[in-house]
Amino acid sequence: ASPTGAAAVVAGPAVAAAVTAQQLTVLYGSHTGNCEGLAKNLATLARSRGIEVEVADMASFKTRDLKKVSNLAVLVSTHGIGEPPVQAEELHQFLHGKKAPDLSHIKFSVLALGDSSYVDFCQTGKDFDAVLEKLGAQRISTRVDCDVDYEEAAEAWQQALVQAISQASGANATTEVTVKDTVPAEAPKYSRKNPFEATILEKINLNGKGSSKETIHLELSLEGSGLTYEPGDALGVYGTNAASLVEGVLQAAGLSGEELVQGHNGEKPLAEALTYDYELSPISSVTLAKYAELTGSDKLKDIAADNQKMVQYLPGRDMLDLLQEVPHAFQADELLSVLRKNAPRMYSIASSQAAVEDEVHLLVSVVRYEAYGRCKEGLCSATLSDRFHVDDKVKVFVDRNSRFKLPADPEAPIIMVGPGTGVAPFRAFMQHREVADFKGKSWLFFGDRNFTTDFLYQTEWQQYLKEGILTKADVAFSRDQKQKHYVQHRMLENGKELYNWLESGAHFYVCGDAKQMAKDVDGALREIIQQHGGVTVEKAEEYVKYLQRSNRYQTDIY
Ligand code: 2AM
Repeated sequence: ASPTGAAAVVAGPAVAAAVTAQQLTVLYGSHTGNCEGLAKNLATLARSRGIEVEVADMASFKTRDLKKVSNLAVLVSTHGIGEPPVQAEELHQFLHGKKAPDLSHIKFSVLALGDSSYVDFCQTGKDFDAVLEKLGAQRISTRVDCDVDYEEAAEAWQQALVQAISQASGANATTEVTVKDTVPAEAPKYSRKNPFEATILEKINLNGKGSSKETIHLELSLEGSGLTYEPGDALGVYGTNAASLVEGVLQAAGLSGEELVQGHNGEKPLAEALTYDYELSPISSVTLAKYAELTGSDKLKDIAADNQKMVQYLPGRDMLDLLQEVPHAFQADELLSVLRKNAPRMYSIASSQAAVEDEVHLLVSVVRYEAYGRCKEGLCSATLSDRFHVDDKVKVFVDRNSRFKLPADPEAPIIMVGPGTGVAPFRAFMQHREVADFKGKSWLFFGDRNFTTDFLYQTEWQQYLKEGILTKADVAFSRDQKQKHYVQHRMLENGKELYNWLESGAHFYVCGDAKQMAKDVDGALREIIQQHGGVTVEKAEEYVKYLQRSNRYQTDIY
């Protein structure tokens, strides 16, 4: 099920509480809609068992209200290298700070979302779990750490938590029945678990000849799927492993590929399972740890036990590198047991359904680089570039992102910062505003390497400017001159006007690289507020927090 999909939702009849109703506060923090979707599922389940539930976004939760909390569920994702997402930052800081209150009146449980291809897997969830305990709160059920395929683990956590709360109130006898009676609320037909096979209608490399980049514009057909999406949502896409990599791994593992194994949907030959159902590149920290255990290699065990060493070791290595460095003769099942299941990649949708109807458009940057003597590639982007062509079918599903949405007010001005593929959702915004005849002003900051080869969707922006759908566009081509020009430099040059837009109610959006760009853009935003608002660093910080709380500062970063 997609995170907001309803497969995990259980909507049973409300149970008359046999004893005083228990209360549960559900706090979620993520920059996609994943935690929010799960938080709402949990609320539905808990309410069906007579628990009074309040659900809140961490970003808007008032810390003084912690006093009133009895049971607390924290759902939080980890972002980048072990960092909290923006929505969770303030609460995370507060609980770790000097003013953190005693929380011994609280019973809690944490659901940590993360991605095991990063070393500090689920770190933010671990932080919340540890700090709540340190502040005196008692764990009511154990923390669960979820990888990118989080549905089942998340559901088990929800069930265990609700059961524990019910038991604490002595209401378990009455509520047991409810769980058995539950029926899934209308689940969407196609989801992460049951993706739709979308036909490729169009595939174009948008970069001109001689560009250092390859950015593909894809048009897929959703006809007959019933799938719907809104500007700001993402499309989950399943890729496949390259045949050469599958062959290499089989050879290194001493297997033929014909061995029958249990794949994602039933029994199949190992080679097929390796192509479609598991990830061979990159290797996750979990795969490294399992492989170290399996082989008993001291060298690998040493690396797996030390995050610093893993950060050095993992990047650029794939399963074949690992097998070549520490050879091991495998059983087919053993090989699969160390691998991570093939996880879909999320791409911010570049179209509006109001404009393209049964289609969905994507903008995909193809990842390729040399490492350890071979060309390495991004599993999904290389699939879309090399292995899938027009008329082929791609497995997809819609991933809702309630945290990246056009303002409801059609008159509200919007500022969009989207260098590289970060520009994708803004194309969707513009398409939507054009069809819906929204009158609000809009301002795009776009950047890429070179003007002549990398100006993605150039003619479309020009057309939107001409029609007045786009009010202003500022571009920064970083490699056309000696000095780097980036989007944040354009923002600073236009600081006064940008500040005036904010003052007149503009919503500020950032999409693209999380590691550097989004941080630098955030810094520029603060600098602009300080300088043109004539305020201190602290006041600028408050201004930004206010924008975030009122949903006027939204990010879709990766
Ligand atoms: P570069 O590759 O020349 O450094 C899209 O990838 C664009 O974002 C490129 O022009 C890239 O420049 C630029 N970029 C890289 N780092 C950035 C940063 N910290 N802030 C803003 N843009 C950045």
